[in-house]
Amino acid sequence: MNDAKSLAAIDWLEYQQLGESERAKCFQQDGNPSHLLMSQQFDRSFLDRVCDLATRTRSIAKTRGGMIWLQDLMAEKRAMLYFVQPSTRTFLSFLAACEILGIKPGEVRDTSTSSELKGESQEDTVRTISSYFDVIIMRHPTGGFAERIAWMLTRSDRPIPVINAGSGSDQHPTQALLDVYTLQRSFETRGGIEGKRIAFVGDLARGRTVRSLAYLMRYYPRVHLHFIAPEGLQIGQDILDSLNASAVAYTLGNDLSGILSEIDAVYMTRIQDEWDTAGESSSVDVLDYAITPERLLVMKEDAVIMHPLPRRGEISPAVDADPRAMYWRQVRNGMWVRVALLLLVFERDREVDRYFNDLTR
Ligand code: NCD
Repeated sequence: MNDAKSLAAIDWLEYQQLGESERAKCFQQDGNPSHLLMSQQFDRSFLDRVCDLATRTRSIAKTRGGMIWLQDLMAEKRAMLYFVQPSTRTFLSFLAACEILGIKPGEVRDTSTSSELKGESQEDTVRTISSYFDVIIMRHPTGGFAERIAWMLTRSDRPIPVINAGSGSDQHPTQALLDVYTLQRSFETRGGIEGKRIAFVGDLARGRTVRSLAYLMRYYPRVHLHFIAPEGLQIGQDILDSLNASAVAYTLGNDLSGILSEIDAVYMTRIQDEWDTAGESSSVDVLDYAITPERLLVMKEDAVIMHPLPRRGEISPAVDADPRAMYWRQVRNGMWVRVALLLLVFERDREVDRYFNDLTR
């Protein structure tokens, strides 16, 4: 089972019984992702390609001529941003990415104005959307929903690509790619991500950004990961199993202060209390899992501080002016990574390579 054709041949029950890596393979075509649904679909060469393409496109866009060329590149395409869960950055960065490439965006953000209120199933709503658009970029509160839609559309007569822009508390693959891009740029002159000590801090059980990013860390030899979380909110065993299978070194703990002086990057996250079922977050003291000006003093001078945002108390705004704060750059990087992903999904990346090569010749 190596390409999307085989996905059309299996029913949903059968699909759900597949292991993770087999499921990931269902969404590849000729070695490239035909939908972007989960981090397990990506390999190192894909990560490097995304980073390279983001940087190339961004340098083309530096001139007015380049920007105008980009804006014409995919002017025949339309994208549906189906975001039925709150979002600021992801929504706006996909919107901006579409505009950079000339893709015309449409949006559904509130199902109370759609036929779902008349009892239409979400599947039917999405099938309708697929009639008008060329790609669906989707954020949904249910884990696995984007996979289900990709499976359904593959079997339809309009099998348009699906991009998962955040699903439940399980995955946020495009965020993971922009996080890799940010790490890669931060460590560009320091031997890359390879061999770095990276801490993930906060609600790691329900924070989908860390879950998606952790899968990708196995492609960077000799990294050491620290998972620092309050009791009950530690990273899932499924992620640890995957790291074990790739012999990635990691430690689990709840003492942020104890490791701060050793780490090269820290990835902060908020407590995801919207998923509480029995007040799981109520006993957490956010300050135990926070970067403050005092804690900055013990960190390495060239450490990198990241956060997918939105933040609450886990990074003090007084940290923003510190050169180690990378989270606002991360936001900007996200837009260029999403431009790269749209190019790849529609296989228009080579045109960017050619334009870039002509520019730099
Ligand atoms: C995150 C998300 O929605 O998963 N934000 C983002 O997309 N940049 C993080 C969060 O909600 O905490």
